Amino acid sequence: MKYEIKITKTERPNERPQDESKLGFGKIFTDHMFLMDYSEDKGWHDARIVPFGPMPTHPASTVFHYGAEVFEGLKAYRNKEGGIQLFRPEENVKRLNNSAARLCLPTLDEEGTLDIIKTLVELEKDWVPKSEGTSLYIRPFIYGNDPHLGVHAVKNAVFAVICSPVGAYYAEGLNPVKIAIESKDVRAVRGGTGEAKCGGNYAASLRAGQKAEENGYTQVLWLDGVERKYIEEVGAMNVMFKINGKVITPALTGSVLPGITRKSCVELLKSWGYEVEERLFSVTELFEAAKNGTLEEAWGTGTAAVVSPIGHLFYEGKEYTVCNNQIGELTQKLYDNLTGIQWGKAEDKFGWINKVCD
Ligand code: PLP
Ligand code: COI
Repeated sequence: MKYEIKITKTERPNERPQDESKLGFGKIFTDHMFLMDYSEDKGWHDARIVPFGPMPTHPASTVFHYGAEVFEGLKAYRNKEGGIQLFRPEENVKRLNNSAARLCLPTLDEEGTLDIIKTLVELEKDWVPKSEGTSLYIRPFIYGNDPHLGVHAVKNAVFAVICSPVGAYYAEGLNPVKIAIESKDVRAVRGGTGEAKCGGNYAASLRAGQKAEENGYTQVLWLDGVERKYIEEVGAMNVMFKINGKVITPALTGSVLPGITRKSCVELLKSWGYEVEERLFSVTELFEAAKNGTLEEAWGTGTAAVVSPIGHLFYEGKEYTVCNNQIGELTQKLYDNLTGIQWGKAEDKFGWINKVCD
């Protein structure tokens, strides 16, 4: 089912960034955004693309007081012929609905939501940057908009999509990042909201993130919320370790975000013949491997972060260097193959690409 989208174009288009090497991440926005309202009696209605700008919201709105918000992150890439394509967007739409269901926010029609994203991206096609390593980051989100203070499942909501031309997420680019393993704060527990992509998870992670940054680390690696023993994920990416030729990544136990890049990397690795273990993986096991020399590579995976080598791991007062703080061979191969498919330079063997326009 497709939503009927009314399009109102801006009369004052913004100047597009000239120097694509200075895009950074999520600082510049395109000319338009998508909005759609939900109410219990009408369902989703009033689908519209409007000029980008503030969204007036009632001061008692559920999103402000009880954090009723879920979001997604995907990218539109300019392929080598100049066309525009998305990478596994159906997976993002499915995950958005799973997250919404977890927070009792209304879910969306999947085919209709994909059509909304493609319609907006096509309208903003001139904003999709052209330089190597750049893309148009797409941020769909749903928030509860009930104008009263009682705590209950949301009856009014908004679905919005905004877009931002981006470069690398980390200032380090493809250079290894320094990660601090957090042993005090936890991000999520099983039965909580860890596997949903909801704003509250990120709000709760800021304190440890800030502490890590103050100590010179880029992001936090979270441990499980009960024993603080098992590795879960990094602030904006899943993690993988190459130990003794095998790849180990934490299992999706309910408190970890099921990353689409993670899933794609696992599929790529298996197609190359690698053994991939998705299991509970303790911080003790990690540092045993670091000490006995079998920890060969470590990297994070995410839409914003792509495939990001980890060069240093800090835990309880000690710092461990991984792969001599260089990008490992397998990390580089994963990066090249994944981005090759995303940017249309390599064959799309797995059928992951969804074209927007030529
Ligand atoms: N884990 C967290 C906490 C994230 O924010 C992200 C980013 O979306 C990921 C993992 C990676 O997920 P994906 O590969 O779907 O972008
Ligand atoms: C993404 O990779 O899309 C994310 O959502 C990470 C982030 C910027 C929070």
